[in-house]
Amino acid sequence: MAAIEIIGLEKTYSVGFWRKRPKRALLPLQLAVEEGEIFGFLGPNGAGKTTTLKLLMGLVFPTSGSARILGMEWSDPRVKAQIGFLPEQPYFYDYLTARELLEYYAQLSGVPAKDRRPRVEAVLHRVGLPDVGGVQLRKFSKGMLQRVGIAQAILHEPRVVFLDEPMSGLDPMGRREVRDLMEQLKHEGKTVFFSTHILADAEALCDRVAIIHLGELRGVGVVADLTSSVHGRVEMVWQGTVVPLSIRALGAECHVTGDTVRAVLAEENQDAAIETLRREHLRLISVIPVRASLEDYFVQKLKPEEKMAGVTA
Ligand SMILES: Nc1ncnc2c1ncn2[C@@H]1O[C@H](COP(=O)(O)OP(=O)(O)OP(=O)(O)O)[C@@H](O)[C@H]1O
Ligand SMILES: [Mg+2]
Repeated sequence: MAAIEIIGLEKTYSVGFWRKRPKRALLPLQLAVEEGEIFGFLGPNGAGKTTTLKLLMGLVFPTSGSARILGMEWSDPRVKAQIGFLPEQPYFYDYLTARELLEYYAQLSGVPAKDRRPRVEAVLHRVGLPDVGGVQLRKFSKGMLQRVGIAQAILHEPRVVFLDEPMSGLDPMGRREVRDLMEQLKHEGKTVFFSTHILADAEALCDRVAIIHLGELRGVGVVADLTSSVHGRVEMVWQGTVVPLSIRALGAECHVTGDTVRAVLAEENQDAAIETLRREHLRLISVIPVRASLEDYFVQKLKPEEKMAGVTA
């Protein structure tokens, strides 16, 4: 059974003060996320990620379409107990302590009174905040607040967790901890659906990803499958500081560092470049295939006019 099934979900906002005009934030979206997957929802700023999550949470009304969560209609009140949600910019009351806030959320999500305190302590531990339960949230750093937000999302042990930009504001250690936490949730059989505009975070973590841009789904699949469809590139390094014009003409990106030149070019031009180096008596040091990244996939999927506009992830 799909944990999340999005059926033609679409959102057009009405913008402008005097004269309202439509703003299409999400074109009809069709997507299924299997139970137990870590699923990355990727796209640059303004792609429509938050809009999709808000629609799924019932926070904004769709222009059309619907969704099913764990086989239930998304409007079914039973769904709420099974899902957790970290909003993009969570706001918490400054003068509450982390423990008070989480106990409040535990109460809201129906955790029985006698279980609340141990549940809150366990979740604080889990998100790496074991010693600051009694500290007021106004004293927390952005990274710590993000962890409180994640704690709030997983407190009631939901089966499906939705996280909007969970790594935002975290330092490298913090990002690693959030990644570990997401993996732990997966090991417990939970489904994690998270959005990010940082493609590298998704590459390391996701079973599958969907790429969305300007409200439109541009690709969905296993990261390795998506990136293997990207045209191969190679990195060549040779001795010297000379970059023959005919190598530049092959579309190589060349950088001279010290007494070597590093050039990245399309795989199909590799033989021609080696031949040029031989002719020019330049000593080749290495030729290494460049592993395509999700970013390469994303750039390849951009329409020509979008590339011209310099739109990247
Ligand atoms: N309430 C709203 N009213 C009008 N337009 C909106 C509203 N919310 C979002 N939009 C527009 O819809 C588009 C998608 O926005 P959304 O917030 O879903 O993007 P996102 O992928 O989450 O971006 P980011 O990475 O910046 O968080 C944007 O062009 C945005 O300006
Ligand atoms: Mg967003």
